[in-house]
Amino acid sequence: MNKEASKQKSLPFFGIGKVLPYLRKYKKALVGMILGSLVGCLVDIGVPMFQRYALNHFIGEGTLDTIVWFVILYLTLICGAALFNYISAVCCMNIEVGVDRDLRNKAFNHLQTLSFSYYNQNSVGYIHSRVMSDTQRIGSLVSWTVLEFLWQIGYVVGAVVVMFATNARLALLVVAVLPLTVLLFSLFQARLTKANREIRELNSKITGNFNEGITGARTIKTLVIENKMEGSFVEDTASMRRKSVGAARLRGLFAVTMNFASSLALAVVLWKGGVIAKTQIGTFSMFMSYAQGMMEPVRWIVDAISDLITTQVNIERLTKLLETKPDVNDTDEVVALYGDSFEPKRENWEPIRGDIRFEDVSFQYPDGDEKILEHFDLDIPFGTNVAIVGETGAGKSTLANLICRFYEPTEGKVLIDGKDARERSQLWLHSAIGYVLQTPHLFSGTVRENLLYGNPKATEEQIDKALELVSAKEVVEKLEKGLDTDVGEGGDMLSTGEKQLISFARAILADPRILVLDEATASVDTITEQKIQTAIDTIIHGRTSIVIAHRLSTVRNADVILVVKDGKIVERGRHEELMRKRGVYYRLYTRQYEDEATYSVLG
Ligand SMILES: Nc1ncnc2c1ncn2[C@@H]1O[C@H](COP(=O)(O)OP(=O)(O)OP(=O)(O)O)[C@@H](O)[C@H]1O
Ligand SMILES: [Mg+2]
Repeated sequence: MNKEASKQKSLPFFGIGKVLPYLRKYKKALVGMILGSLVGCLVDIGVPMFQRYALNHFIGEGTLDTIVWFVILYLTLICGAALFNYISAVCCMNIEVGVDRDLRNKAFNHLQTLSFSYYNQNSVGYIHSRVMSDTQRIGSLVSWTVLEFLWQIGYVVGAVVVMFATNARLALLVVAVLPLTVLLFSLFQARLTKANREIRELNSKITGNFNEGITGARTIKTLVIENKMEGSFVEDTASMRRKSVGAARLRGLFAVTMNFASSLALAVVLWKGGVIAKTQIGTFSMFMSYAQGMMEPVRWIVDAISDLITTQVNIERLTKLLETKPDVNDTDEVVALYGDSFEPKRENWEPIRGDIRFEDVSFQYPDGDEKILEHFDLDIPFGTNVAIVGETGAGKSTLANLICRFYEPTEGKVLIDGKDARERSQLWLHSAIGYVLQTPHLFSGTVRENLLYGNPKATEEQIDKALELVSAKEVVEKLEKGLDTDVGEGGDMLSTGEKQLISFARAILADPRILVLDEATASVDTITEQKIQTAIDTIIHGRTSIVIAHRLSTVRNADVILVVKDGKIVERGRHEELMRKRGVYYRLYTRQYEDEATYSVLG
């Protein structure tokens, strides 16, 4: 929040320039909005003139000769104003909704191109509010705020012109009161802004807690800290209520004081100025209307400026997101040859074979403070079945991330088919890799839709075969509507094991040359695991596969087992060789074996 507060001190109009390009699409609506607001303020200026005429002519002179024309003209004016109000409101709405949608789409598309690391560094809540609330505020700024701004400024200018044209001396006296209003307003404004800022800060704290309360609901329940969470929530909302009521009081007091003080000042000026006696009643009434009418624009404009300053923060945050460059980026030459995700040039893609090589790779996570890999070398020729084992935090998933180019090496290269991965597009690589994540993710939709993400052209038989291969067929059959069962947001209606099986089937449907399984069977029972193990043994033929496993019994058949510790390969070889060696792998294996034996005895 402090960061935001300091940003608010910079120039208020600075950020707007970045939003202007988004208005280009809405030229017609802009014209309608501007025209509507100008007509609107002309009517506002015109009404007191009618009043003046009526009072001076019909009452002052006591004649009704022009009353018919007066009524016709007045009604025309009012009806015209209503029509223009309607037009400008519709245009305004179009701009607001349109700009909001364009910004959201752009932000959403841009988010798809950002790397893993962006999502590590920015919380879902943060990204969500950039895409949802910042865009909304900007949309309403460029529509309603601009409309109101033109209207209010137009009113002040028009009223001043009419007043000077009617009676320059009286006009001068009325205008002389304006600075007083501005002064009074600025005094209140400072306190109001402070109160509003406090309310906003509290509000975002409450929203944050609320989000946490929802996303962490299960953890909160298991830790039995509902009371504590509820306590702090209640405290925050109570303080929010206190502050909001305080601010509302301040605002009320402010309006009353403003009206009273400015009317009083106006009365004194007019009285001392000695012009009342010489002025017709109608003219005087018109001046009074203008004087009162000008208080609101003055208040509004000062208010709008402070609003603009806060919206600038929204603009800055959103443009920062839109300007964030992904850490993993295809160079211009690569895009020119291979295309990007929106326009892939598949005709230029070389068929992938599946050789993977790490050459003197050092790696550090963008927000990490130590090197996970240092001068790491590894050669995985096509068709090899590699198993990576090691303790938690050893760097196994990191290796998988680098192979998939979710991250790029800080130094050195990862070669795919003998060529630096960076020399080809990410899409080329990703379309050839099947990856089952440690934390599986499904999209909302049905099981079938999720499977088709792997291969949109898959036939019923292919789907059936893939499910059978990973023993997911029974799982799907058990579901209420089979393949057409909705899996819920992120697949949350399924168990983690079920999600893992479905994402496994999805990876197989894609028929990839390289298969990366990061603890793909961590959440399924031993029987299913054994079935999957058989499946893995079948499907890895003709592919390069990297299998990361905690349970060592599952990797016994691997062509080569790499034992990783602190980002280094400490042992490598086949199961039997490593067991004979009696080193790290042997110790890991026997310990696990003993644990499992104890567990089954106890169980
Ligand atoms: N996104 C990240 N940003 C910063 N550091 C990370 C990130 N992901 C992992 N690390 C760090 O890198 C190291 C290796 O993590 P990695 O996920 O590769 O371990 P792992 O061997 O897969 O462990 P596990 O068996 O628990 O899955 C850890 O010390 C971890 O703290
Ligand atoms: Mg891992």
